[in-house]
Amino acid sequence: MVPFIGRGIVGDISDSFSIGRSVREIASAYCIGLRNRFGKAEFPLRVVGRRLPGPARAHDALSQMERDVPHAKSDAIALLKEDHRKVEGLFEAFEKARKADRKSALAQEICTELTVHTMIEEEIFYPACKDAVEEDLLNEAYVEHDGAKVLIAEILAGSPDEEFFDAKVKVLSEQIKHHVHEEEKRAEGLFAQARAAGLDVAALGEKLAQRKQALMTEFKKSGLPMPETRSFTGSKLKQGAPLEAARAAE
Ligand SMILES: [Fe+2]
Ligand SMILES: [Fe+2]
Repeated sequence: MVPFIGRGIVGDISDSFSIGRSVREIASAYCIGLRNRFGKAEFPLRVVGRRLPGPARAHDALSQMERDVPHAKSDAIALLKEDHRKVEGLFEAFEKARKADRKSALAQEICTELTVHTMIEEEIFYPACKDAVEEDLLNEAYVEHDGAKVLIAEILAGSPDEEFFDAKVKVLSEQIKHHVHEEEKRAEGLFAQARAAGLDVAALGEKLAQRKQALMTEFKKSGLPMPETRSFTGSKLKQGAPLEAARAAE
């Protein structure tokens, strides 16, 4: 068992290990749990016998942990679900944030996580699911990704002091919630179908983790690129006047 020491929760973590969950999956669930329970409370955390430097907010602690903890091998589905939990935590943090700079940083992190996640799914996981998963479900997943990319591009180009910024982040979170449900739904979800079809989730997990790491490094160095669509064909929208101006002109 990997020693994972968090104040007052050693028992829970031991139980989680005994059912074979990965270090990162547990770390993710643990941090989200703490943040939900204590809101913005700060807490000291030790991982693998090391104390994280100073008190940290839950999601900061998770990022730190991801750098510190040698990655336990996780299968493709565990890795993708872990990404889902992380981004859910970031959306919750955004909703509670009040200061513009905090909102801006969280929005940037949400866009980065989602960009990398959609890329590794589209490049590696979804192609492997072809013939293993219902075609309609897979096609809808590509379209849902592209829908999210439109909002990601809007958010990246915007700032928290703009009128619709918060609404764009909120709608993105709702779209992602629906999409994650379609992927994780028991029995007929995309992941369940992939597992049932006997996909080599261990080998795919390694590929996803490597690609994710490479993309994170690249984006850290050269910034986040404009999202690339897979199903949307780039139809140009006509931009109307803002609602108030349109009403005034009537
Ligand atoms: Fe996903
Ligand atoms: Fe997806």
